[in-house]
Amino acid sequence: MTDTPDIDPALLLPILIAPHPVLKAKARAVANADAELIRGLIPRMFATMYKAPGIGLAAPQIGQSVRMFVMDVKDGETNRPMVMVNPEIIASSPDLNVYEEGCLSLPQQFAEVTRPRIVRVRFENAQGMKEEIEADGLLATCIQHELDHLNGVLFVDHISSLKRNMIMRKLAKEQKLKAQG
Ligand code: NI
Repeated sequence: MTDTPDIDPALLLPILIAPHPVLKAKARAVANADAELIRGLIPRMFATMYKAPGIGLAAPQIGQSVRMFVMDVKDGETNRPMVMVNPEIIASSPDLNVYEEGCLSLPQQFAEVTRPRIVRVRFENAQGMKEEIEADGLLATCIQHELDHLNGVLFVDHISSLKRNMIMRKLAKEQKLKAQG
């Protein structure tokens, strides 16, 4: 888990829980006119992600249907916070990787998901500069998982409908219990 000494509680945003229509929607591209919105979202999304705690958070998960996400997939002990705006996967390796994935929008639910092991992704960073990186392993999985969120896709959409229905029923039951306190 990521070390998070100081999180300003005023920055925290509520995370949408599945099923929710915003989580199923295709998010719109971030335009130049959104610079202010994005600048405001970045610290709030990082605070919300670290607090959860999680390693990635996409804007639709906090109710903003725009194409951006934040991540921090540690490199050993080193934090590696990243912001990806308008990300695009431009190449994927034929070889695959399996990770047990979870999602802050499906709390306490996990399933093994198979995805390309290496991806090449093009995006704009927090400063609006174009970047391109090649990612491998957990970072590659995280990028694909977060990018899925921008297309209304959740990790459970990659598994069998039998397993998906089981997870969604379990989640609904747990959320109901939680709401009852
Ligand atoms: Ni997620």
